Order: sequence, then structure tokens, then C-alpha cells
Amino acid sequence: MNIPEKLIQKYNVAVPRYTSYPPANFFTETFGEARFREAVIRSNHDQPQNISLYLHIPFCPQLCYYCGCNMHISRDKSLHRRYVEAIQQEIRMLRPLLDPSRKVSQVHWGGGTPNALEIEQVEAIMQLLYHEFDFTAQPEIAIECNPAYLDLAYLDRLHAAGFNRFSLGIQDFSEQVLQTVNRAIPGIPVAELVARIKTYGQAKVNLDFIYGLPHQTPESFAHTIEQAIRLAPDRLVTFSYAHIPQLKKAQQQLEKAGIAGPEAKVKMFENTYRLMSEAGYTAIGLDHFARQDDELSLALTNRKLHRNFQGYCTRETTGQVYAFGNTGISQLENSYAQNVREVKTYLERIAQGKFTTEKGYLLSPQERAVRHVINELMCNHYLSWAEAAATLGISAEELRQTVRYAPAELEDFSAEGLLLFSDSELTVTPLGRFFVRNIAASFDPNLQQTGKTFSKAL
Ligand SMILES: C[S@@+](CC[C@H](N)C(=O)[O-])C[C@H]1O[C@@H](n2cnc3c(N)ncnc32)[C@H](O)[C@@H]1O
Ligand code: SF4
Repeated sequence: MNIPEKLIQKYNVAVPRYTSYPPANFFTETFGEARFREAVIRSNHDQPQNISLYLHIPFCPQLCYYCGCNMHISRDKSLHRRYVEAIQQEIRMLRPLLDPSRKVSQVHWGGGTPNALEIEQVEAIMQLLYHEFDFTAQPEIAIECNPAYLDLAYLDRLHAAGFNRFSLGIQDFSEQVLQTVNRAIPGIPVAELVARIKTYGQAKVNLDFIYGLPHQTPESFAHTIEQAIRLAPDRLVTFSYAHIPQLKKAQQQLEKAGIAGPEAKVKMFENTYRLMSEAGYTAIGLDHFARQDDELSLALTNRKLHRNFQGYCTRETTGQVYAFGNTGISQLENSYAQNVREVKTYLERIAQGKFTTEKGYLLSPQERAVRHVINELMCNHYLSWAEAAATLGISAEELRQTVRYAPAELEDFSAEGLLLFSDSELTVTPLGRFFVRNIAASFDPNLQQTGKTFSKAL
């Protein structure tokens, strides 16, 4: 696929990533602990009934300069211990608010670096979850790991504790790139870690990469992707480097080393897309690739793909999300609630027996409708007004009005070959997928508001 230069120039503007709708920088501080409790109790009556648990472990031993994640640089064992105790207490506090007949279908450990914890600490939290909750027959239990802090014994114990999806943050195989961004280099070759995970039978491997970092060229990044393909991961994610130095000060270090411009990034994306397609992977959204037999690929074929803060997902596996740990975001059918940012404040509030909700958002029925339209376009690249309206229990006309559907404003996308549309449906073309954030933004009535910071589309 060739992406015309003039479209890149035109659409490289700041737009939300739409990992949620409304985006997280719309959350308000009027949504605190009391409203979180109400929201959780109400969520028992909403669909989906299954429960996803998100555990946020913020600690990282070393700061990668590009990092846009909610992390806390610390090797302080006593802080880690107090944090693990707080998460356990938070789990015990939430449990009684949930309908006991609901089952856990998914657990996701993110960070930061969950494997910065001692394996015994991970095991203790998993044991508590098994004790407190009923699980579905085949839950997905996933963990994000930095391979620099993994060894084979740690992996084996994760597997024994029930983990069956392992995401390894590779970013790039080039040591020069990793050194420049101050990222530790794995002591055990990634190939060995992946081979070990594959001995576990049902376990899945995801690999994460970033393009747009210093010293990366389209050729070098293609080489990294070729190496990744040889490891035959179940899923591979290539994030476009999100540069927001005004919010993430360490990213300024990378400007000195020189970061790739949009043209080079587009080439890296094009190469990745081609290599992954040739290797038989299905493109999921813009940045994920999955084996053809993967549940994400099947969900895309059936137009049943979803998306949340943890990435693409299916409704079979992913339920309403209840988050633990600092900065964790609960994603319930009707609301979002984010825990407090500072680790210290998180520990203090939990010690007082309080949830730490710092901000959140209660969605109106109109916003749920906008969310549905944006999700369908971002995930399934398709929208039938009639089907979407039926899902939401409103008329197609009401839905069109809610998202301020204005066919005249879509003419450019259509003339540029990005979108096909009629009165009954919208289809994002393969080329249009590259600009899907821009297309989605045209259905977002909130975007008229100013003062929000988003990274550029490319
Ligand atoms: C929480 S991290 C993964 C776990 C672990 N901390 C690690 O680094 O391997 C999640 C992923 O976000 C991606 N990421 C981090 N900062 C980013 C940025 N500024 N732009 C795009 N992707 C980014 C990286 O690919 C990283 O693997
Ligand atoms: S990329 Fe991962 S390991 Fe590096 S600072 Fe961010 S969260 Fe920590």
C-alpha cells in the first residue's frame, strides 16, 4: 500500500487516539469515590456481565526516554511491598460491591513493568483473585513484561500462576536504538524467552514495537520486523511513537538525538504492513497484527471487534473493566473512573479504606451512541446505521443526528479514496484505515472544544 504524500501532510494533525470515548483528558474531577461506588453497583445491571480485571504496576527500574506510560521509576523494595499490599486491599474492598454471580473472564497486568515485582508478589495477588472471584472456564490472564527483567524461572512461575498471554515490550531489536532511548537490553535473547513460552502449550505471545525512535530508518525497522516474524508471535503491535514532550519531559532527550519525521514513519508503517501481510497476519486496526486463527482476526471478520485502553479485544473475552492500582482506569458500560496518579497518595487513601478515584466520566446516552460509532469505525472499519441504531435502541435518524452526520463534510474523504459511504452505511477503505483517527474525529461532537492536548495522527 502506498500512502500519498499530500494526504499525509493534510491529515497529520492532533486528534485523539480514541482508546476511549470520550478520551481520558475529558475526565472530570467531580467524579470521585462516591460516584465510583455508585457506578460499580450500577454496572452489575449492565452488559456485559463478565468481569475484566486490570492491575496496574507502575514500577520500572529505569526510565526509557520515549515512555508515554503511567510509570514510576523505583527499585525500592519496601515501596513495592506496600504497593502490593494496597492492591490486595483494594481488591478486597471492591469485591463486595460486585454481584457474586458475575465471573472473571480476563485479567490484565499492565504498567509500568509488572515483572519489576518479585514473582512471589505476583503469585500472592493471583491467589487472592482466585480466592475472591469465580472465573470463566477459559479466562485470559495476560501480563506486559519488559524482557530485560525476565528470566526463564520467572516465566515458568507466571505460567504456573495461570498466565496464558505474555506481552513482551521489544520496541526494537537494534541495541543502538535501545541504548539511545535509555532502555535496558535483555540479558536473555528474546528468542529464548519466546521459545520457553511456546512450550506452555496454550500460552500466547504478543510482541510490542515502536516506530519513530532515534536511529530507526525504514530499512532498519523492516529488519527488526523480519526478526520478529521469525519468532512467530501470535500478535504483534507496532505503536507509532507518540511525541508529547510538553507532558513527558524525558522525551525532549530524544529531540537531541533526532526523531523520525512523518515521511519516514509512514515508510516504516508501510513496510511493517507489507511484511506482516506477506507473513500471513491480519491487520487489526492500524497498529495490531494477529495470526489468522487468532480470536481478534476472527472477530474482525465477523465485525465484532472492540477496543479499550488495553488495546483491541473481543466481547467474548473482555467484560466491563475494573481497575486496581494508581492511574488504573475502570471502564464500565456507563462510566470511566481513574485512580489517583501519585503512588504515595494511592497508598495513603487505600490505607484509609477509601477508593482512590481521582476523576472519571459518566456517559450520557448520546455519548454512548458516539462511542459506538467511533468504535465501529476504528475497529471494524464499517458502520451500518440501521444495525448500530438497533444495538443502541434508537432510530437510525436519531443516531445520525447525535453524531452530527454531515455527508457534505465526508466528501473529501470519499474523493481521496479513504471512505465509501451511502445513506445506509460507511466503509473505511484499506487506505482510509491509515487516517481512521481523522475519519472518526469527524463524528466526534466534543472535538469542537479547545485546550486538549493530543499527539499528531501520524
Ligand atoms: C507499559 S509498556 C509495556 C511493558 C514494559 N514496561 C515494557 O516497556 O516492556 C506498554 C507499551 O507502550 C508502548 N509505548 C510506550 N511509550 C510509548 C510512546 N511514547 N509512543 C508509543 N508507544 C509507546 C511500548 O511499546 C510499550 O511496550
Ligand atoms: S517503556 Fe516500559 S519499561 Fe520503559 S519506562 Fe515505560 S513503562 Fe517503564
